Amino acid sequence: MLHVDSFSPLFLTLSFCTILLLPPSCRAELPENHVAFFIFGDSLLDAGNNIYLNGSGTNYLPYGETFFKRPTGRVCDGRIVPDFISEYAKLPYIKPYLEPRFTDHTNGVNFASAGAGVLPETHPGTLYLKLQLNYFEEVVKGLKQQLGDGDARKLLSKAVYLFSIGGNDYNAIQNNPKAAASFRKMYMTMVLGNITAGIKQLYAHGGRKFAFQNVGPIGCMPGTRASSGSEGCLHDPTVITKMHNIALSRVLKRMEQGLPGFKYALFDYYTSLTMRTLYSSKFGFKVGMSACCGSGPFNGQFTCGKKNGTTSSYTLCSDPSEYVWFDAAHPTETANRQLASLLWDGPSHTVGPYNMKMLFEMS
Ligand SMILES: *[C@@H]1O[C@H](CO)[C@@H](O)[C@H](O)[C@H]1NC(C)=O
Ligand SMILES: *[C@@H]1O[C@H](CO)[C@@H](O)[C@H](O)[C@H]1NC(C)=O
Ligand SMILES: *[C@@H]1O[C@H](CO)[C@@H](O)[C@H](O)[C@H]1NC(C)=O
Repeated sequence: MLHVDSFSPLFLTLSFCTILLLPPSCRAELPENHVAFFIFGDSLLDAGNNIYLNGSGTNYLPYGETFFKRPTGRVCDGRIVPDFISEYAKLPYIKPYLEPRFTDHTNGVNFASAGAGVLPETHPGTLYLKLQLNYFEEVVKGLKQQLGDGDARKLLSKAVYLFSIGGNDYNAIQNNPKAAASFRKMYMTMVLGNITAGIKQLYAHGGRKFAFQNVGPIGCMPGTRASSGSEGCLHDPTVITKMHNIALSRVLKRMEQGLPGFKYALFDYYTSLTMRTLYSSKFGFKVGMSACCGSGPFNGQFTCGKKNGTTSSYTLCSDPSEYVWFDAAHPTETANRQLASLLWDGPSHTVGPYNMKMLFEMS
């Protein structure tokens, strides 16, 4: 198993400081090119926060079977996108904020929470965006204590901030009869308004480098298609996610114009995952439309890892790397690796105006 942290000079410096208990003399020791990584979002980015919320975490096999060989709370058979980004950026895997005894936040923090929406009402009990940002404020306080105001500000302004959020908000109104055009428009305005407010909050702390996965193809997920019995991708959820993604790209362009130094990478996760679902063999997969783990049509029922009494309520494929989707709504590690690699340094029609590699490497 890969242990990036044991090779990191930062890690060595900090453990040395911690052991000798000499905080003031340790303050200036962050390497000049150190770039922290902060993560906000939903199950696509959650590295385990939900384990520490009332039992909503996927803390059971076969989640985690591929790489970690144990459940970690990631909603995947193995690594998720931020894990691969951390590898590319030569950082350790960024830990979930709620993990006990996780107090050294100088490499960054993962605030993402499975089920989370932008809006608190989407899935109460998860870390919705505002709550993630409140926790971020706590982290900022801690960094200021640890590093001093100046170095904390420097760390925050050099850091990269990754977002994947909004999918659950749109999923939640899919079957809502109130979801007439005017309601959807107002809803989208609220979702984007709260995302914008969040970015400005990070910007006010010095944050300049932002990366966004746009909302994925909700209408193509095995879970959505299983509940409607549709072979192909569904029209309605697809329309609203496309509208959101177009609006998001406009919002970001406007922020780039309005906020000096604001730089961003917008990754067309939607198209990249849709293509893999529909044309799986072109991308090296055997199965694109059905999930590896689950039950029912397209293996798209959310039963992966669940038991009824002593019998499994699900079937599990023998090789997740042949599948795009691990469960009803989450890609496999192999799909995540491809998606992360596009986000890192994919072509400009897939990620732009910057990519994450550029964000990590710029001063
Ligand atoms: C967790 O669940 C218990 C029992 O259902 C409840 O009393 C408690 O408030 C919940 N805690 C949180 C943080 O949601
Ligand atoms: C954020 O969402 C709430 C609903 O949860 C809404 O009332 C509020 O207006 C939104 N904020 C912005 C700035 O759009
Ligand atoms: C569990 O199994 C029993 C007996 O086979 C069945 O009647 C019941 O519907 C199952 N429950 C679920 C949630 O699948």
